[in-house]
Amino acid sequence: MKLLVTGGAGFIGSNFVHYILKTHPTDEIVNIDALTYAGNLENLTDIRDNSRHVFVHGDITSTRDVNRLFREHRFDAVLNFAAESHVDRSLHMGPREFIKTNIMGTQILLDAARKHKVPRFLQVSTDEVYGSLGPTGAFTEETPIQPNNPYSATKAGADFMVRAAQHSHGLDAVITRCSNNFGPYQFPEKLIPLMISNALADKPLPVYGDGLHVRDWIYVMDHCSGIDTVLRKGKSGEVYNLGGNYDVPNIEIVKGILKILGKPKSLISYVKDRPGHDRRYAMDNTRAKTELGWEPAHRFEDALKETVNWYVANKTWWDRIRSGEYLKAYDKMYGWREKGDKGVQG
Ligand code: NAD
Ligand code: DAU
Repeated sequence: MKLLVTGGAGFIGSNFVHYILKTHPTDEIVNIDALTYAGNLENLTDIRDNSRHVFVHGDITSTRDVNRLFREHRFDAVLNFAAESHVDRSLHMGPREFIKTNIMGTQILLDAARKHKVPRFLQVSTDEVYGSLGPTGAFTEETPIQPNNPYSATKAGADFMVRAAQHSHGLDAVITRCSNNFGPYQFPEKLIPLMISNALADKPLPVYGDGLHVRDWIYVMDHCSGIDTVLRKGKSGEVYNLGGNYDVPNIEIVKGILKILGKPKSLISYVKDRPGHDRRYAMDNTRAKTELGWEPAHRFEDALKETVNWYVANKTWWDRIRSGEYLKAYDKMYGWREKGDKGVQG
């Protein structure tokens, strides 16, 4: 297959590119990424000379960039990972870029896929579109869409545009909705890499609110195998939930990281809560399991240890990110926190 991967210099996209090159020896990938603050060509250094992977610096919100790609290549599938992905940014820096990339960018890709009769479109979506759960139960694909923050609202908007393209125009399209990922190459603004890198630097670990918000954690390679399964076996028009079967309060994750690193719990610093913070996510994977035979394969504890070791071994990767321009943006974004409560310090 020849795949168009968007956002393949980001965390999950770059892991997916590696996954496909390894598991499908004849597949080819064209990878378009705008290289925003979250895109990093260092995530792709080891496959620089791989003739089955072509990187294109381009923007999915540019019809010119997108149309040029579709004219030059005949794709068997489009996989849309490209997005503004950080909830805090959508809350504190404003939703403009989220609306542009997550909704407009998706629509531009859908239009191109229709025009060029691409046989399959896969939208990489999120459990956040379902909103927040009460103390029991789990999200199924039939759970009403009730996004609670600007990021998840734009992801929900994109899901609806994909649904409309499939329903009204007959585009072959599938949607995956996944829970919280962790693993190598995750930008250190997200909980797990932020806590690892802060702990390694003996900086405070900023836990929002009471630390009892629950997320369902999945190792990124399991997400990649889920997307790959849906790509090849999923039914057009369907949504597939992908979760890690590991839903625990944030504070447990933070304590687990400190334990692996042998760092003291005194580094934990409870800070002001995220506005509108969703209390609990948990995924019901029944459809992906029973209809497609997919299940996450990694044990959380092993994958977390492996991830911590990756960050220990790749300090130069995250050190570069946590200096310079990014630090300024981080300070601006978290200005609402009390002094001394910032997660990252220079
Ligand atoms: P990320 O922020 O690490 O990467 C996003 C990538 O998209 C970056 O490389 C960035 O440069 C690129 N990009 C942004 N705007 C672009 C544009 N206009 N044109 C081209 N490229 C652009 O995000 P991630 O965590 O890897 O998430 C990837 C996808 O998976 C997103 O769609 C996200 O909503 C979804 N998702 C993420 C998680 C998670 O836990 N991280 C869980 C479920 C779903
Ligand atoms: O659920 C899937 C979603 O997971 C994806 O769609 C998003 O792209 C991805 O960013 C992630 O969203 P979250 O908001 O859940 O991830 P984040 O890592 O920002 O936060 C995870 C939890 O940890 C959340 O309850 C907020 C909390 N948190 C986060 C940060 C950054 C803290 O307590 N302290 C922090 O400093």
